[in-house]
Amino acid sequence: MSTASQSSVEDDRNIVTVENLKIHFPLKGGQTVKAVDGVSFQIRAGETLGIIGESGSGKSTVGRALVGLLKPTGGTLRYGDTDISALSASEYKRLRKNYQIIFQDPHAALNPRMTILQSLVEPMEIQGEGTRESRRKTALAALERAGLATEIALRHPHELSGGQKQRINIARALTVHPQFIVCDEVVAALDVSVRGSILNLFADLQEELGLTYAFITHDISVVAHVSQRVGVMYLGNMMELGPTDAVIENPLHPYTQALLSAEPRPVPSDMREDRRIRLEGEIPSPVAPPSGCRFRTRCPFATEKCKTEVPQWREIVRNHRVACHYATPDGRIG
Ligand SMILES: Nc1ncnc2c1ncn2[C@@H]1O[C@H](COP(=O)(O)OP(=O)(O)OP(=O)(O)O)[C@@H](O)[C@H]1O
Ligand code: SF4
Ligand SMILES: [Mg+2]
Repeated sequence: MSTASQSSVEDDRNIVTVENLKIHFPLKGGQTVKAVDGVSFQIRAGETLGIIGESGSGKSTVGRALVGLLKPTGGTLRYGDTDISALSASEYKRLRKNYQIIFQDPHAALNPRMTILQSLVEPMEIQGEGTRESRRKTALAALERAGLATEIALRHPHELSGGQKQRINIARALTVHPQFIVCDEVVAALDVSVRGSILNLFADLQEELGLTYAFITHDISVVAHVSQRVGVMYLGNMMELGPTDAVIENPLHPYTQALLSAEPRPVPSDMREDRRIRLEGEIPSPVAPPSGCRFRTRCPFATEKCKTEVPQWREIVRNHRVACHYATPDGRIG
C-alpha cells in the first residue's frame, strides 16, 4: 500500500479551510457545550490530515461540521475559495455532495431493511442524479472499486461481516464522486485482522481517485500510517498541527507529549524516556472550560500566565503550529 511517507501531496489547493470554527450546543437550562471553540486549519487537495485527541475533545464535531452535518456557530468554513455561508441552498447542495463522511459503526450506517443495492443508489436518488439504470451501474462499479463482488448487491446488511459492511459504506460514499471524505474512526469497530485491508483500500482509492481525507482516530499508529499531517485536539481547541513525522517524533505541545508518551508505539523510546509526562485527571467539562490555556489544569508547566492568557496559534517551525506560551522548536517547554 502507499503509506503516508511514500505518497506525496502535489496539489497545494485547499479543499477545506476553517477559520476560528466554533460549534456550540445549547443545553436545557441555558448552559452551552463548547464542543469546538475556535479552530483554524486547512486541508490540501490529495492529502490526509489526521485528527487525534482524547474522547470528548471535539474531533467528531469538527468532522461533522466539515461535511455540513453541523452548522458553525461561529467562524468560517470554505470549500475551495467558497465561503459556504454565502451559498444558496441549491448551490450548497451541489457542492456539499463532494464532501462525504464515513462513520465508525459500519452497521448503523446501513438501513437493515434495504438491500445493499438500494443503500448504494440512495445518495444518487437524493441528489437527483442519473437514471435508474445509470445509478445501478454506478453502484455496481463502486462496489467493485471497494473490493466487493457485485453479487453482494442483492443481500441485506445482516448477511455481511463488519469489514464487508464498511466496504459498502465506502462504496456508498464513492457513488457521488466525492473529492473529500471525513473518516471518523472507520476501523475502530472492526476486527484487528481486517483493519489493515480497509486502511489499504482507503490508500488505494486516494491514489486512484485523488481523494482528500480527514482521518479521525484514537489510534496513533493508524494516524502515523495514513496521514501526512496531524492535528491534535483538546477540549474543543487545536493544540498542535504539523507534519505527522515531526509531531510524532518531536511533539512541541505538552499535551501532545503527554498523549504520545502514554503510547507504547510508534514513539521513539528515547523520547518516551526523556519526556514522559503523565496525563492525570479528567478532561474538564466543555460547558465551563478552564480560562487561558485549556490544558492548564493538567499541564505540569502551567504558570499564572496560562490562567489569564489564551496562547496564540503560533507557527514555531515551518508548517508546524502550536498553541502554548512556552513551546520551543526543539520540544522543550520554557
Ligand atoms: N449534539 C450534542 N449536544 C450536546 N453536546 C454534544 C453534542 N455532540 C457532541 N457533544 C459534546 O461535545 C463534546 C465533543 O464531542 P465529540 O463527539 O466531538 O468528541 P470526540 O473527540 O469525537 O470524542 P470521541 O473520541 O469519544 O468520539 C463532548 O463533550 C460531547 O459530549
Ligand atoms: S500554555 Fe501553559 S498550560 Fe498551556 S500547554 Fe503551554 S505551558 Fe501548559
Ligand atoms: Mg468521535
